[in-house]
Amino acid sequence: MSETTGPRMLEASGLRSGYHGVTVLKDIDLDVGNEVFTVLGANGAGKTTLLATLARLVPLTSGSIVFRGDNVSAIPAFETAARGMGYVPQERGVFPELTVLENLNVGGMIGERSPEERMREVFDLFPDLEALQGQMAGTLSGGESRMVACGRALMQDPALLLLDEPTAGLSPLYVDMFFEKIQEIHQDKGVSIILAEQNATKALEVADRVMVLSLGESFAVKDAAELTTDQLKEGYRI
Ligand SMILES: Nc1ncnc2c1ncn2[C@@H]1O[C@H](COP(=O)(O)OP(=O)(O)O)[C@@H](O)[C@H]1O
Ligand SMILES: [Mg+2]
Repeated sequence: MSETTGPRMLEASGLRSGYHGVTVLKDIDLDVGNEVFTVLGANGAGKTTLLATLARLVPLTSGSIVFRGDNVSAIPAFETAARGMGYVPQERGVFPELTVLENLNVGGMIGERSPEERMREVFDLFPDLEALQGQMAGTLSGGESRMVACGRALMQDPALLLLDEPTAGLSPLYVDMFFEKIQEIHQDKGVSIILAEQNATKALEVADRVMVLSLGESFAVKDAAELTTDQLKEGYRI
């Protein structure tokens, strides 16, 4: 579902970025509205680099990022959260030495609504977290810490949530649960989502549109229902 009026959620053009002088992303254009936009691609394709670039954690070599009508190409990473961009990294998404509750409260420092109200919503979305709130985050299972990382980003009341492979390495039950939550976050809370995934089948079920990244280049951008298996295979170079 795309917006018809107002600025787009996120528009990026000609994005180039990488590490230590090595270019990873090569001229990526992105135009994301109020939708679930999935970035698919093989290991090493550049999904994490793309999300981290959007979150301003990886510097741009060229190109621009416009978020909710404002050019954010040069802002520091810490400002993206205050502007409504929530980022859940692929790894190291929790503070291990803090409890679950303390982790969530870190996100609650931003935004206008009361932290209590937002905490209630996070516990309604992930009921397991309420029971775990006193536990040190470093002792949680993989699935539990993903829920904490996601909950902390939601505590910031984001307009756009960047989720980097939230289900990687999780058991099938957790994978199904997470994909349901992703739909709930979008449909019930109205949050736009950019989801990086390797699990194409599941990701295409929840996505409105999809970009296939291949060796740092945008191989295809399609409505999720229109992406063919051949395009997917070619994009994954298999
Ligand atoms: N911190 C880093 N320093 C140097 N190269 C990196 C770094 N992170 C990723 N890369 C390289 O960038 C490319 C894309 O990686 P990444 O964005 O993690 O892909 P994906 O998330 O799709 O698996 C890979 O070739 C990877 O080796
Ligand atoms: Mg990655």
